[in-house]
Amino acid sequence: MLMKVLMYGMTPDQKIYVDKWNKDHAADDIQTTDEQLTAQTVDKAKNFDAVSVMQTSNIEDEEVYRKLASLGIKHLALRTVGYNIINFDYANKYHLLITNVPAYSPRAIAENGLTAAMFLLRKWGGYFKQEKDLNFTRPESLISDEIYNKTVGIIGLGRIGSATAEIYHALGAKVIGYDIVKNVANEAFVTYTDFDTVIKNADILSLHTPLDQSTQGMIGTKQFKEMKNDALLINQARGPLVDTAALIAALKKHEIAGAGLDVLADENQIFMKKFDNIKQLPEDYQELAKMPNVVITPHSAYYTKTAVQNMAEQSLTDIKRVLNGQKPIFPVNL
Ligand code: COI
Repeated sequence: MLMKVLMYGMTPDQKIYVDKWNKDHAADDIQTTDEQLTAQTVDKAKNFDAVSVMQTSNIEDEEVYRKLASLGIKHLALRTVGYNIINFDYANKYHLLITNVPAYSPRAIAENGLTAAMFLLRKWGGYFKQEKDLNFTRPESLISDEIYNKTVGIIGLGRIGSATAEIYHALGAKVIGYDIVKNVANEAFVTYTDFDTVIKNADILSLHTPLDQSTQGMIGTKQFKEMKNDALLINQARGPLVDTAALIAALKKHEIAGAGLDVLADENQIFMKKFDNIKQLPEDYQELAKMPNVVITPHSAYYTKTAVQNMAEQSLTDIKRVLNGQKPIFPVNL
């Protein structure tokens, strides 16, 4: 069956695979826009069978869901793992199927988290700063640590958390983890325990839970006080899992040793934008950006060639299945 799809939030790196899809599937007509799906852009979906979306800003306005339904659209395919941008009350009210792409590349995110942890563990923030100052000395403050005798704590052991646990285990670290459900297959490389034990014992605390009401702010003042003073926090999942003000306070009070942040609570204020001066950043992000023991990356943990290809292709595959009357592979609200 011919499928006509509009892909919102398109970027040149993904467009390569969309163009390839159009070439390989002569009957399909996949069109793209770099705009995000909002109440202002939803009209563009007229005359399409389904839409695909990749964005970090919430689709909160009921009008978007109502309009999609009135245009006859029954399927909104996220090209992301996370689905916290969707209002499921509205999606269900307007009978809109939501699918995601949960495994475009768990390793992409796991490897990025490890990179951030190693950067901090080996004090590269300090060495980078020294290099800029043409200072090639080796101060005692930059003595570092080795990964294999560390305890890594993973919160959330889904696909990405499990891939993360596996990598740290392979490097010889002791890996402990917490999740509301236990995956027996993980027990070869992670010891499951309770949330508080993970917080208190982790030298590296890596977050991999979805964002919802139960996880928002899960790392705040109390947790920072309980963490080891030389612990590193790695957040590659969603910014609001961490209370930013509490994080800044903990870093200033040396309650923890550093943070690797690929996500921020209000990241759309600064990610995908370029600034001339640090003063243009919101005050809390100015503070974080100045700290040599904090590394911020612009939600780029996912950003590998493998992931980008799979995001585009797997989302289109599920759209095709649904239009052909098959079950989607990755339904979120069925
Ligand atoms: C996800 O897939 O959930 C991500 O965080 C990637 C991002 C492009 C939204």
